[in-house]
Amino acid sequence: MTDLTPQDRAKIAAGRHAAETYCRDGMRLGLGSGTTSHFFVRALGEKVKQGLDIVGVPTSTATRDLALDLGIPLVDLDDVTELDVCVDGPDEIDPDGSMIKGGGACLLWEKIVATASRKMVVVADNSKLVARLGAFPLPVEVVRFGHESTTRAVRALLGDFGHAEVRTTPRMRDGARLVTDNGNYIIDVHLGRIDRAGELTVELNRIPGVVENGLFVGIGDEVVFGYPDGRAEVRE
Ligand code: 5RP
Repeated sequence: MTDLTPQDRAKIAAGRHAAETYCRDGMRLGLGSGTTSHFFVRALGEKVKQGLDIVGVPTSTATRDLALDLGIPLVDLDDVTELDVCVDGPDEIDPDGSMIKGGGACLLWEKIVATASRKMVVVADNSKLVARLGAFPLPVEVVRFGHESTTRAVRALLGDFGHAEVRTTPRMRDGARLVTDNGNYIIDVHLGRIDRAGELTVELNRIPGVVENGLFVGIGDEVVFGYPDGRAEVRE
């Protein structure tokens, strides 16, 4: 690979370390989404070519397509009772391990797969660690029906403490709304800082029309931080 940025190198270090450390014969693995997770999936694909016997459950159609290209055997989540380990990346992670996810609009499958796993291993480049969550806009997945009304309800919940907008896809010049793998829309909630992530996740999910939000509180078990010099460090 050419033209790698320092952040890419850090992501590769985290992804490779996770593939080496957590993946064993016979395991059922959750395969995360986003660039860091995809470096993990590529490293896993190399191990499968060398004979590692695992099955994976992807957290997005993009990850499914990548895994199939790499020859990683996939199963449906409903065909297994439990996953051993899920490996996925955050947009932000705080010192307690609470995260914002969904920058790639895959938060719903990501949260379902992570909570169906005995262990969630978070893979992140070192820039993802923040003192406090919230500089990254919090993604909230909503059904299309009544999405403007749902967005108003989210705004009402925020009061004066932020704003919310439906995500558009940068590829479309007409401002078309981004559609998730589930056929839903994403509202990005700009808060600046999130003080009570546990309460906010419950309050958001109470709004009719909200399917799920990108706050992962108490879900991650171990974090692999990658660094541009190729080092990886595990924090529990
Ligand atoms: C997708 C996600 C991604 O895991 C998150 O956006 C991190 O992505 P990247 O590894 O590319 O920084 O939550 O919904």
